[in-house]
Amino acid sequence: MNSIPVRSVVLSVGAYLPDNIVTNEELSKKVDTTNEWIVQRTGIYERRIAKKNEYTSDLAFNAAKEALKNANLQAKDIDLIILATTTPDFTFPSTAALVQQKLGIHHGAAFDIQAVCSGFVFALATADSYIKNNMAKRVLVIGAETISRIIDWSDRTTCVLFGDGAGAMILEAQKSEEEIGVLCSSLRSDGDEWNKLYVDGGVSRTGTVGHVKMQGREVFKHAVGMISDVVIDVLEQGGYKTEELDWFVPHQANRRIIEAAGKKLNIPLKKTVITVDRHANTSAASVPLALSEAVGDGRIKKGELVMIEAMGGGFTWGASLIRW
Ligand code: UT7
Repeated sequence: MNSIPVRSVVLSVGAYLPDNIVTNEELSKKVDTTNEWIVQRTGIYERRIAKKNEYTSDLAFNAAKEALKNANLQAKDIDLIILATTTPDFTFPSTAALVQQKLGIHHGAAFDIQAVCSGFVFALATADSYIKNNMAKRVLVIGAETISRIIDWSDRTTCVLFGDGAGAMILEAQKSEEEIGVLCSSLRSDGDEWNKLYVDGGVSRTGTVGHVKMQGREVFKHAVGMISDVVIDVLEQGGYKTEELDWFVPHQANRRIIEAAGKKLNIPLKKTVITVDRHANTSAASVPLALSEAVGDGRIKKGELVMIEAMGGGFTWGASLIRW
């Protein structure tokens, strides 16, 4: 007898952005740059920067609260928290454990995932596996960053690119014959490329926090190919064609990368969610922030087919296909 499969169904999303907006004009007073250069090369106009006493766990907690409210759930309904971040509050415990504490729950499990800008896709695929292996019923998946803390604010080649924020998603195990929820994912890494995008400090090597170092042109060169590979892999796994996608929600690093990937994959811009203009690159938070915006304003609707993707340091890259 065939049993009904367990699906990881999306119940809700939530987001949080710090209040403080930093424009390109403001940055151009601090480093040798211009609004024109930043807009032309990246599509970024402004970014949010967390206050000194606002931590990654605070951003994550606020996004989680919104996701819980949107799902009409309480914190006690969650039995697993997976949080993707590169900028944890502490070396340990995990930021996920701090969010669990802020939510006031003591059951289930909580842990962090480190895959830099691809973190949310890695966290979502992990949550999906936990659900499909009957190890969790309702998972809170979060991407949260205070990336501003690891930026060298005197380096114009990186400081104009990043911003802070958090996004969350709640997945629920549901038995269904229908193909809904997270349909398939593809995750990749290549450690050979670690020094093209990295932070020059860390617990074991330097005992310092360090700053983001990036060979921007090199990363750009690899980005479109890596993104296309995982998106095509996921479409093939699911047996879908590009034309069937309702929405493409890419990692928000650079508008030129998003447009070039869309062109290569034949996904029209009108189906692409873009937030990089206002959020800049929020690393692991970028995809859930974009999802939250597009669900909130009514673009992404129940039953639609959504492709998310991301790439970042490691290199890491990945994509997931979701029937909303
Ligand atoms: O989320 C993780 C993934 N990260 C990414 O996807 C980032 C990928 N890379 C990029 O998005 C782009 O490479 C950048 C936006 C970082 C840079 O754009 P680019 O078109 O690749 O510029 P470039 O690095 O080739 O630099 C062109 C020029 C250089 O001057 P010279 O050598 O031509 O004289 C830079 O020094 O622009 C200069 N430059 C700047 N000028 C004004 C670099 N940063 C700035 C700046 N303002 N902020």
